[in-house]
Amino acid sequence: MLPASLSSLHSTNVRTSPYLSPLSSSSSLPSPSPSLSLAPSFSHLHHRRLVSFNTVRGNNPLATKAERRGLSVTCASTCEPLKVMISGAPASGKGTQCELIVQKFGLVHISTGDLLRAEVSTGSEIGNKAKEFMNAGQLVPDEIVTAMVTARLSHEDAKTKGWLLDGYPRSFAQAQSLENLKIRPDVYVVLDVPDEILIDRCVGRRLDPETGKIYHLTNFPPETEEIKARLVPRPDDTEEKVKSRLEIYKQNAKAILSTYANITKKIDGNRPKEMVFADIESLLSQAKREKMKKTTAVKPVHEHKSQSNQASSSQDNWKGIPTRLNNIPHSREIRNYFYDDVLQATQRAVNDGRTRLKVEINIPELNPEMDVYRIGTLMELVRVIALSFADDGKRVKVCVQGSMGEGALAGMPLQLAGTRRILEFMDWGDYGAKGTFVEIGSIGANEVDEQDDMFILVAPQNAVGNCIIDDMKAMTDAAGTRPVILINPRLKDLPGSSGIMQTMGRDKRLEYAASFENCYFFRLLYYAGTQYPIMGALR
Ligand code: AP5
Repeated sequence: MLPASLSSLHSTNVRTSPYLSPLSSSSSLPSPSPSLSLAPSFSHLHHRRLVSFNTVRGNNPLATKAERRGLSVTCASTCEPLKVMISGAPASGKGTQCELIVQKFGLVHISTGDLLRAEVSTGSEIGNKAKEFMNAGQLVPDEIVTAMVTARLSHEDAKTKGWLLDGYPRSFAQAQSLENLKIRPDVYVVLDVPDEILIDRCVGRRLDPETGKIYHLTNFPPETEEIKARLVPRPDDTEEKVKSRLEIYKQNAKAILSTYANITKKIDGNRPKEMVFADIESLLSQAKREKMKKTTAVKPVHEHKSQSNQASSSQDNWKGIPTRLNNIPHSREIRNYFYDDVLQATQRAVNDGRTRLKVEINIPELNPEMDVYRIGTLMELVRVIALSFADDGKRVKVCVQGSMGEGALAGMPLQLAGTRRILEFMDWGDYGAKGTFVEIGSIGANEVDEQDDMFILVAPQNAVGNCIIDDMKAMTDAAGTRPVILINPRLKDLPGSSGIMQTMGRDKRLEYAASFENCYFFRLLYYAGTQYPIMGALR
């Protein structure tokens, strides 16, 4: 008989929630070895790495192990409030959209522009300092703004209702200040509007000093003559100052984006405000739903307090792993979970300056050993990663090895057949990323062009009698310090009938294959020799 806490896990949470949190942080554990022999080492695995998936089964041996370890399970009932940042050039419509967001989602709107203008109008010391910068269209010094924002974020209403940060961070240093304080939004919305429209919007903008409402002389004229009579322009809204603000925005935008790349949502702000809001509304509703799911997922708690305290900081960032990975095809939600997970890991590694990386993800749809392998899932994963780096302004080359061998013996691994054509025909978004920021190529030194910023190699692999490593080596030599990311590589030597591949230069090949460090690793655990049921996962 299971203890009450565990039986509730069995009867409700695992069935109803697609996510299951890990038992604890993995930070202090050794890296998982890809050559792990599952069954014998299973019981030796540090239990903190073990995540049970099929606990819906009453006879699951893991349940009793968990029981013996004294785990209890709690379930959060309330949803954490939403945290949103909105960014965009001057007059891209941040303030206008914030009014609508607040009405709909009840978030606490924190606008650095408004906070600063309030300080200026009261003539405070901060206001007097800020005024000269603002009137000149310059950024106010970081220390003033950061102190204001962090103080406001710590108020109880922001903690309970959630917040909408508008106009902050505006520089890389400001973004880092928030990161250091572990203040991170769920969504980073960027309003995209062409420069010439922005200038017109600023020059025509008027504020109602009584209500704080934003008007535009032609786009959103005031409702009455009385309101019109009291409207005032902003001192920093002259054409010359707007140009300077725009320039400053552009200089900083890219650096800030790198901090939030994986949660950035770009929205076309050059449409009627209702249409812009419709997009934002669906985005935030989706983010809210996802948050709700996460907070209602199971939160296992260790009895040993010291252990959980030690782990708490990394646990805060840890997302549960989806259950039901035996359900094939995987749901879009589950696929998106993994795409996002891999993306975050990859971005962290690239931002850390790592250049030789590999992603190894072995869910059923990405496991060529299983008959449910789906090339589409691999392609989608690659697209998510490539587009995200492309959004950061990087030129990404997505490479698939060409056919190997010669003449009638030419061929390619089954797993990759047709891949390049699929990539060519895939939908790469409305922004024309493919052909500009994303290129499709092959593997080899001559695929490396000067303008390429990074390379993603799709499942590079050896075939019987053919070794891809020489081409890869030539390519990485040519790429120099630019990142090269291997997605699900299979670089073990495969014996050919001639036996040549096993012997010549084997050490060098293995050494080269090992020179790529894992930035993401995920594999499922089964009983030895089986692929069902799933017993857990290593991540
Ligand atoms: P801030 O007030 O934040 O100015 P901003 O970022 O330049 O943005 P704006 O307020 O000009 O525009 P908005 O995007 O809110 O557009 P709005 O909705 O009003 O900051 C001011 C100054 O404070 C900065 O220059 C700096 O000095 C300082 N500062 C602030 N934060 C700082 C920080 N973190 N660090 C350092 N310094 C900082 O719309 C604009 C106009 O367009 C309106 O007239 C509106 O009616 C119209 N409009 C809006 N949407 C649409 C639409 N969809 N179609 C047509 N017209 C529209």
